Amino acid sequence: MITCDIGFARKFIKDDEYLKARRKADMALDQLKNKTGPGSEWLGWRDLLADPNDAEIEEISSLGEEVREKADIFIVCGIGGSYLGAKAVIEALTPHFGSKGPEILFAGHHIGGKYLEELMAYLKEPKEDGSPKNIYVNVISKSGSTLETALSFRLLRELIEDLYGDDASEHIICTTSKEGGLLNKVIKEKGYRKFIIPDDVGGRYSVLTPVGLLPIAVAGIDVRTLLYGAVSAYNRYKENTEDILEYAALRNAIHETGKTIDVFATFEPELSSFGGWIQQLLGESEGKEGQGIFPTVATYSTDLHSLGQFIQQGQRSLMETFIIVEKPFSDLEVNELEGNDDELNYLAGKSFHEINTKAREGTIEAHSEGDVPIVKICLSALNAENIGELIYFFELLTGIFVYSLGVNPFNQPGVEDYKKAMYRLLGKH
Ligand code: PA5
Repeated sequence: MITCDIGFARKFIKDDEYLKARRKADMALDQLKNKTGPGSEWLGWRDLLADPNDAEIEEISSLGEEVREKADIFIVCGIGGSYLGAKAVIEALTPHFGSKGPEILFAGHHIGGKYLEELMAYLKEPKEDGSPKNIYVNVISKSGSTLETALSFRLLRELIEDLYGDDASEHIICTTSKEGGLLNKVIKEKGYRKFIIPDDVGGRYSVLTPVGLLPIAVAGIDVRTLLYGAVSAYNRYKENTEDILEYAALRNAIHETGKTIDVFATFEPELSSFGGWIQQLLGESEGKEGQGIFPTVATYSTDLHSLGQFIQQGQRSLMETFIIVEKPFSDLEVNELEGNDDELNYLAGKSFHEINTKAREGTIEAHSEGDVPIVKICLSALNAENIGELIYFFELLTGIFVYSLGVNPFNQPGVEDYKKAMYRLLGKH
């Protein structure tokens, strides 16, 4: 269950400004529902929740289990929307240390030679018992031509072909568009297994398609529960979108006041990468035509010791959105220590969750006294169902908020500019 409380931020906005923003949010929701806004051909992320593809979920779950049993290493090779969702969900829902099942590694998300060289060496290293590692690669690219992903895949493909010869196609799974793109050409030539990314779902809205679901299944997470968490959010918000409309209106009104930064803050290190997914979803959707609130991520209390000073007293150009988990997922308590030489016995018997909660409440109090508008998004517990719900919450918020700015939330024309310059410098014809 997700709740959204804009109370701490609302006092920064005058009533008439809020009402104006709220009217824009209402109109934006109509555009989404009626498919009348710009980019409405990319609204498939809603349709896939209206009519979930159970057969595909079963196929992904059983392949996930099979790979989980066989693989020592599973590499997710993709960039942007083609890996951030999987990383976010896997980090939120699997143990920090000693996870069972294959080690999940990422590639294709940058062009760092050192990383790739070390990755290739690590993959070739035998296991402790001297036997070779069993490696699976999932290359994910909707366009099938993104340079970062294609370069890493070239290295990985060569390695897999060297290692497994005729059986290489068993170890490579491709996730791409139905047709077109260079990756489809390779798939045809080599006979690799393939999952399809629907044409009407853009990269950053694709975590609930095979793009995210296959790696998430390999990580041992119940993808059906995750997806159906999003489906129940879809059905709930179909009936009542009030929470999201309020948040979208508030963000719009805050944007009008000239604030330029939204810090997505969490006190749960498990949700750090989820912040990264939100950052891409909002950033690539809203940052156009000179508009948008720059989304950034902070993991507290760690970042209270780096960004905290700025947030408390620096330029008043920011708002903060807290992602909160209410139910503790650890019972770890502080022990009583004989002698109390570290003077922490006043905390003895308290759980780390309780202490973390007080740190959060104290931070919210201090930041709101420091004139930071604060929104609180609460998850009742950290589980697959709630994460599915949270995914749809942010997708819908993004669609409504960005439409309320009068901008297309589903394209990313600015990303092409660096590519053009890079390809020119690389001499691509
Ligand atoms: O959200 C988006 O559309 C982008 O971030 C893409 O996911 C990213 O650029 C990767 O593209 P592709 O999947 O085509 O390799």
